[in-house]
Amino acid sequence: MIDFKSVLKDIQHTVTQIEDKGEVANYIPELQHVDKNAFGIYLNVIGSEDFEIGQSQTKFSAQSITKVLSLALAVSKNADEVWKRVDVEPSGNPFNHISLLEVENGFPRNPFINSGAIVIADILVSSLKNPKQDFLEFVRLLANDNDIHYDTKVAQSEKNTGFKNYAIANLLKSFDNLNNDVDVVLDFYFHQCSLYMSCEQLTNAFFLFANHGRCLSNKLHISASQAKRINAIMLTCGFYDEAGEFAFEVGLPGKSGVGGGIVALLPNKFIISVWSPGLNPKGNSKIGMSALELFTTKTNLSIF
Ligand code: DON
Repeated sequence: MIDFKSVLKDIQHTVTQIEDKGEVANYIPELQHVDKNAFGIYLNVIGSEDFEIGQSQTKFSAQSITKVLSLALAVSKNADEVWKRVDVEPSGNPFNHISLLEVENGFPRNPFINSGAIVIADILVSSLKNPKQDFLEFVRLLANDNDIHYDTKVAQSEKNTGFKNYAIANLLKSFDNLNNDVDVVLDFYFHQCSLYMSCEQLTNAFFLFANHGRCLSNKLHISASQAKRINAIMLTCGFYDEAGEFAFEVGLPGKSGVGGGIVALLPNKFIISVWSPGLNPKGNSKIGMSALELFTTKTNLSIF
């Protein structure tokens, strides 16, 4: 039996001593006001208990972590269209890279880099009646928690400064891989990314990926095969040009966001969320990655 409580305690003790906590994202101005020393973990061990430490209940900007949830909703609506319009290969490039998209004729490498996530946003704008409200309700349902909201200040802040995302969306449009208006799709995308959630809420929302497509309340949202595929993309593309490093150090499917959160999971076993706002140069939580490396090393629980 693993003593998860003391594992989390040891991890907190170790990582809080690391001096270099990385840099808080400031390219979205509204994100820079967060305390760099914040740290929290929430762990759901399937069939057992939940464990938490630090600021596991404090909400933060989920950002790119939400790309996994938007992909799940899009796949549940129209999987054929998703895989026709987005590839499933690691890009080896930063999340907001543009030039590869032009070389590859507007066909994004995967759904987790910004170009791919913007195509997924376009699919959702086309297939949902009230896209922003319906997506929010989907996440609330997954997390079994209605206290989840968009941070409209963050969405507006990104709208004011998201020039690269406008460039990406326009490039997609020029290649006929965006059906709706650029402004409409990006308004949805910026709101999606602004979801304000705690480690506990993220762990709960990701339960379905470790549970063959069934969420916490046992409702089937995506098939077991679709859950398997999304986990594979998290493993190979969830950390952009650091996906290899995350697989090497941690060995779990996972997804990061520039708000400093990371969610990772081992199917049938556990879902874990970590939050530490300082990022490494690749845009992933520096302390979050160290904490997860310690977690899989100490527990010997990884897919490898
Ligand atoms: O589009 C952006 O740049 C942000 N809304 C999300 C980027 C992000 O979280 C990258 N992940 N580490």
